[in-house]
Amino acid sequence: EKAGYEHYMRKEIHEQPTALRQTLSGRVDVDRARVDLDVSLPEAFLERVEEVQIVACGTSYYAGRYAARLIESFADVRTTVEIASEYEFGAGRDPDRTLTIAVTQSGETADTLGAIRRADSAGARTLAVTNTLGSSVTRAVDDAVFIRAGPEIGVAATKTFASQVTTLALLAVALGRERGTLSAARARSVLEDLRGLPGAVQQALDAEADVVTAAERYCDEDAFFFLGRDLGVPVALEGALKLKEIAYDHAEGFPAGELKHGPLALVTDRTPVLAVLTEGGAPAETMTNVTEAQTRGADAIGCVSADREFGTLDVAFEVPDVGLLEPLVANVYFQLFAYHVANEKGRAIDKPRNLAKSVTVE
Ligand code: M6R
Repeated sequence: EKAGYEHYMRKEIHEQPTALRQTLSGRVDVDRARVDLDVSLPEAFLERVEEVQIVACGTSYYAGRYAARLIESFADVRTTVEIASEYEFGAGRDPDRTLTIAVTQSGETADTLGAIRRADSAGARTLAVTNTLGSSVTRAVDDAVFIRAGPEIGVAATKTFASQVTTLALLAVALGRERGTLSAARARSVLEDLRGLPGAVQQALDAEADVVTAAERYCDEDAFFFLGRDLGVPVALEGALKLKEIAYDHAEGFPAGELKHGPLALVTDRTPVLAVLTEGGAPAETMTNVTEAQTRGADAIGCVSADREFGTLDVAFEVPDVGLLEPLVANVYFQLFAYHVANEKGRAIDKPRNLAKSVTVE
């Protein structure tokens, strides 16, 4: 069942190129700059929509944070992302002009179901982005879109993060085209990048041996800080979550600019920093913050766009050119890093202590 892999998590990390091809299959028409997601949001609603709300938990929440930036930029509509257990519809909102999206791999997460039901009761239009046909969330919403990543068994969400962001990126392009806010030329360029994503992820997977070397070198450190800006922020947060969840190490993600506003006091020569230094993640500015950490003795591991070089990094992982999707490739390196650190420590990777794959209590 694990097809020769010692853990489902590693198998699922390696399934990402296939999962992404399935996510994209039949949905993209680059020449016509069109996306077909099989969701029939009425045109009149798309014209009047003033706010998109995303509700989700854990890794799905970080996928939502990534996507929100794309939706705002392509569709020119205010997009908020909330942790589902904290979500309220919000005073002053007009339900008639609001689209609330539940992002959930399992479709069974109680907090997310609770949130989308609150949106529904308030009168908002609701959409589920899920991996699971027939799941509870699909019955609670007006429309559902499937991410088609295939079954995910490991408790740590991996391939579903990439497929969630990809599906939501398609939605962002579709909204932008429908609303007339995204030019055909820009849509084509984004769709080309999406088409290139499976191959780019494969290149990261092919460099796994370098990640193993880094994991061996750093697995016994005191803590790990993940830094990013813009689209690199959700990836930094997700990278830290993965390391906590399966390696039981102290890890935190920060918007890189925040480091100097407090967390820098924690940085020592025993706290490596891992940074997203790619397109879509303001790499030059992020590197300035990485250097602040290095000055305090920390080693720096960076995921870097193929056409850039930051010579002072202690470890660099190369990210192929896929535009705004490059932070998603950095995420694959972070997944491999967490996996190999956990493996060095002999952790129960597929079933980490205290956690369940789907959390059906509020
Ligand atoms: O099934 P869902 O996407 O709704 O699950 C949400 C979270 O429970 C989930 O992403 C969790 O954070 C993962 N175990 C993280 O790897």
